[in-house]
Amino acid sequence: MTANILTLSDGGRIPAIAYGLGTSHSKNYQEYFGTPKIDTEQVLTEVLKGGYRHVDTAEHYEKDEELAAAISKSGIPRKELYILSKADCNNGLTVDQALTNQLRALNVEYLDAYLIHNPRFAKTDEDLRSKWREMEAAYKSGRVKTIGVSNFTKKQIEAILKTAEIRPTINQFEYHPYEQNGDLIPWLREQKILVSAYSALGPVTRLKPGPLGNIYSDLARKYEVAEEDIALKWILDQGFAVATSGLSLHRLRDYLATDTKFKLTTEEIEKIRTIGLEKKASSFYQMGGVAPN
Ligand SMILES: NC(=O)c1ccc[n+]([C@@H]2O[C@H](COP(=O)([O-])OP(=O)(O)OC[C@H]3O[C@@H](n4cnc5c(N)ncnc54)[C@H](OP(=O)(O)O)[C@@H]3O)[C@@H](O)[C@H]2O)c1
Repeated sequence: MTANILTLSDGGRIPAIAYGLGTSHSKNYQEYFGTPKIDTEQVLTEVLKGGYRHVDTAEHYEKDEELAAAISKSGIPRKELYILSKADCNNGLTVDQALTNQLRALNVEYLDAYLIHNPRFAKTDEDLRSKWREMEAAYKSGRVKTIGVSNFTKKQIEAILKTAEIRPTINQFEYHPYEQNGDLIPWLREQKILVSAYSALGPVTRLKPGPLGNIYSDLARKYEVAEEDIALKWILDQGFAVATSGLSLHRLRDYLATDTKFKLTTEEIEKIRTIGLEKKASSFYQMGGVAPN
């Protein structure tokens, strides 16, 4: 079982569900919650065996060694994997330096997608534009197959679009019914920039209880799946990608199976959207505000 494939505005193809090496795999998260240190290499090897082909990583996660080892152990050919990474941009390295380091550490010749992890390094719009030019150079070098951004607002993307030669194809940010990001979603649709959601399980995990409680459980009963599956389907059935994580291999397997098993109706998606607006909360920053990523 593998995930559905989405098409990016530049024609690239991306598996809709990613396994993420941030959050539960990060040292900050483990220290904050007192959870045991995860053997990333071992977990990821199992996750790849279980059918995941899209790995969501970042320079900041410092998981290159484990990712390289898991890829090698899995025996999966490089062209069947989708590796998305993010340039930190806040540590003094240029995009070119960060990318060179990461390709070497991962022992691969290219990344499938490369994003600016966070716009917080930028003091001005010109800072954003200048960093985007570095991303464009990375793309032109052929060492990354598509480029995008993460945690960008509409205004920040508009700033780079003013001078961009190559448009961002992806924006990854926290997205779920309790964090709907104002008018960002319809605007990204218009711009043909793919939404990649993180912390999508918030409403059925860290952000419980909430106004959507009964709706998730009723739909889970109707479709004979778990509430987590409904939370992910709410993203996937809008045509978006999602990065999840965790150690529970049975849950991770179910996410892949559920994606092709049924579709939420338009009315169900709308009902969740409307009721979700009754509560506003961030799952990511609920993790103690320590910004584990
Ligand atoms: N670009 C960025 O700035 C950014 C920021 C945040 C995240 N991300 C990416 O997105 C990935 C996923 O982020 P996330 O962890 O916030 O996503 P998530 O999909 O909302 O949460 C996944 C977590 O939920 C847990 N979980 C699932 N079902 C549960 C249940 N019933 N009860 C309790 N816990 C449950 C999982 O653990 P178990 O299944 O093991 O219990 C796992 O730790 C990250 O690893 C990273 O790659 C990117």
